[in-house]
Amino acid sequence: MKLNRFERWFVNSPARNIGQHLVMRWFKSTVALKTGGTILEVGCGRGVGAKLIWKAHRPERLYLLDLDLQMIARAHRRINGNNGDGISFCVGDAARLPLRDDSVDAVFGFGFLHHVPAWRDGLAEVTRVLKHGGVYFMEEYYPSLYQNFVTRHILVHPDEDRFNSQDLHRAFQDVNLTLTHSFELKRMGILGVGVKADSQSISCKRHEDACQVVLD
Ligand SMILES: C[S@@+](CC[C@H](N)C(=O)[O-])C[C@H]1O[C@@H](n2cnc3c(N)ncnc32)[C@H](O)[C@@H]1O
Repeated sequence: MKLNRFERWFVNSPARNIGQHLVMRWFKSTVALKTGGTILEVGCGRGVGAKLIWKAHRPERLYLLDLDLQMIARAHRRINGNNGDGISFCVGDAARLPLRDDSVDAVFGFGFLHHVPAWRDGLAEVTRVLKHGGVYFMEEYYPSLYQNFVTRHILVHPDEDRFNSQDLHRAFQDVNLTLTHSFELKRMGILGVGVKADSQSISCKRHEDACQVVLD
């Protein structure tokens, strides 16, 4: 689901920039990724996370995906000219990722999953595209933060089947992602690192046609 005006303003603000730097610092303190790999960022927004990922991990290929063309266009402007080589931009849905099974070394998600109505499908898709041993770096929030008596009047999120801590932990088990690191405020949200088990077999459809717009 696309952001409303207020949240769009917030995620494009300097405050969010600082927040993402701190989250990335935590991610980096957990698992060391090898350089030269393939990385996907889902819900990349304006591309601040992408620049941090690029700097920290020097992937050979970085896919940036967002549902919102305006966000992808912003990310494209932010990154192109700096270090655009090896970076692909795609307008698409997290619940239908346009990548092959077992094809990426890591997926980064800075706060996108709680915006996806079919969030379990989103999580299953993240797992499907990860290689065995691949890592999902996740920043997520719970409804008591974004749908409480104040925030429900100023933010817009899907209404049904929202996840709290317990739901998310169970869903990780269901897709066979092992939560190796986490920092959680039970009623607020979580920073987490999930690793796809070696013996993982998850059957999902491929959605290689699911990129609506591709910018190079
Ligand atoms: C809270 S914003 C976070 C943006 C950026 N990652 C950040 O940390 O500032 C969530 C982002 O996820 C995107 N998004 C929402 N639903 C999505 C979906 N189903 N598939 C892909 N991206 C989605 C939104 O357009 C938005 O850019």
